[in-house]
Parts: sequence; structure tokens; C-alpha cells
Amino acid sequence: MSVGGKPSCARAGDLALLVGPKRRWRIVRLEPGQTLQTHHGVLNHDDLIGRPWGSRVATHLGHPYLFLPPSIHDLILRIRRITQIVYPKEAGYLLLKMNIGPGSHVIEAGSGSGGLTLALAHAVRPDGRVYSYETRSEMQRLARRNVERAGLADVVEFRLRDIVEGFEETGVNALFLDLPTPWDYLEQAYAALVNGGYLGAVLPTANQVARLLAALEPAPFGLPEVEEILLRAYKTVPARLRPVDRMVAHTGYLVFARSLVSGDAEAEGRGDAERTGGDDVS
Ligand SMILES: C[S@@+](CC[C@H](N)C(=O)[O-])C[C@H]1O[C@@H](n2cnc3c(N)ncnc32)[C@H](O)[C@@H]1O
Repeated sequence: MSVGGKPSCARAGDLALLVGPKRRWRIVRLEPGQTLQTHHGVLNHDDLIGRPWGSRVATHLGHPYLFLPPSIHDLILRIRRITQIVYPKEAGYLLLKMNIGPGSHVIEAGSGSGGLTLALAHAVRPDGRVYSYETRSEMQRLARRNVERAGLADVVEFRLRDIVEGFEETGVNALFLDLPTPWDYLEQAYAALVNGGYLGAVLPTANQVARLLAALEPAPFGLPEVEEILLRAYKTVPARLRPVDRMVAHTGYLVFARSLVSGDAEAEGRGDAERTGGDDVS
């Protein structure tokens, strides 16, 4: 039986999420004849292949594990990485903010470890495209491997290129910069974006944000916005519901702007970019 067009049982080759005692979790690809060694005993892949997702399984020592398909959120947190990645809390928000969905054509630079690439590729499927630029070949290899492992390679094109040389594409819907000096590439970004398209960037320090805002002022972009996302998790004990003791205090600042017809930026109303209520869609 399948729900929503997806098989409800695991097949050989699928990625599986196994959540054990104390919520320790692993992601594995199911391969006939293989075993998974855990701190709590061994699980045989052959016992998992064909099993319904959502089952409880037990190691040879009798410890329980939950057996689930992993989400993109899970995959991003567990990719092999040698750079800082865009975390799911920022990635999920920027997809909505930049209107990225099925059919969108999106550029990102740099590829880094491919964390954001997973979120973008998952969103633009089945008929959109992600063009991912990177200068370092070892980074590109890692990003490609992570994207292939997640089964998303069919919508991603990797380009080994310094974006100072510009982008190969034009008319893309959205362009996201995750590199240290985004202000150096606004001309290139503008040339690649469709009029009205979305520019986004993530930056770790406020100094960099100020520099990017200053560079956006004379450029043909409008509606600049700076946002920060704070996420707080809670202990899920009904009788003692409260936040967990520690939280990730800072990941990065998000900066957004819209690409305008050259010359029309003056009319857009710069300065304090706080959005007012506005009218409903009519
Ligand atoms: C922070 S990482 C990107 C992380 C990625 N967004 C992720 O989620 O995994 C920044 C990457 O930008 C690349 N980079 C820096 N300057 C670049 C340029 N001018 N053109 C292309 N890539 C560049 C670096 O090599 C590095 O891999």
C-alpha cells in the first residue's frame, strides 16, 4: 500500500533514519547483506528492507529503534561538511521569502558542503533547476556527493567557477550568495536575475551586513531587508514543559532585496525598510 504516491515500506537503496535510545539518530542507505553497528547492538539491513516505515525495530541486544524515512531537514544536519552550512531554520525561511518552489530556476554561490543545495533542489523539483557555483574543486566534489546521496542530483548543475566572472544563466528567479564578500558580486547577480527576481545572502557578522546594505544602495535593487531567525526547542515532557537548556545563539543574518528595472530603484522608497501592514491581496 502507498500513501501520497510513496511506498510505505522500505526498499533496498532507500535512505533510512534510525532513532535509538536518548534520541540518538543515524541515517543509512539500506543495502542487502549489510549490518549497522550501533552503541546498542547490531541491526541487519535485510531485516529492515521491506519493513513498513514507522516501525519499531530491535537490535540483536533488544534495544528499540524507530525506523523512518529521513526528511531533508535530517539530511542537511547529517551531511559531511567542511564548511559552515546554511541551517534548516534559515533555509526553510528563505525558500518562502524568495518564492522558491517547483519550477523555479535558482543560482547559489558557493556550493560549500551542499547544505543549502539540498533544500533548494528539494524545493524546485520536479522541473526547476539549481545552478550551484563554487571555486574550489574539493568543495564542489563534496557538495555533489552530498546531493547525489540525497537523490537530488537530477535538478542540480554544478559550475566550477569564480562568480567574479559572472554567471552563465540569465532570467533566473532567485539568487542566493553564501560567501564572505557578496557586495563584490552585485553586478553579476543583477545580470543573472529576472526583473523583480529575488536576491538573498547570509552573513555571520553585522559588519558584513552593513557593507552589503551600503553596496545595495546605489545598485538596481530595492526593498532591502535584514532578518535574523532565533529558534528555541522545548523539552517534550508534558508535566514540565520548558525550553531545552542550550540553544544555538547565532548562525547568521539574512539579507534580501528585489531586482528592479535599472533606473527605477530611486522611486522605490529606500531608507528604513520596515514593512508596514499593507492591503490584502485583491
Ligand atoms: C560558507 S560556504 C557555502 C556553504 C553552503 N551554502 C552550504 O550550505 O553548505 C562558502 C563557499 O563559497 C565559496 N566561494 C567563495 N568565494 C567564491 C567565489 N567568488 N565564487 C564561487 N565560490 C566562492 C567557498 O569556496 C566556500 O566553499
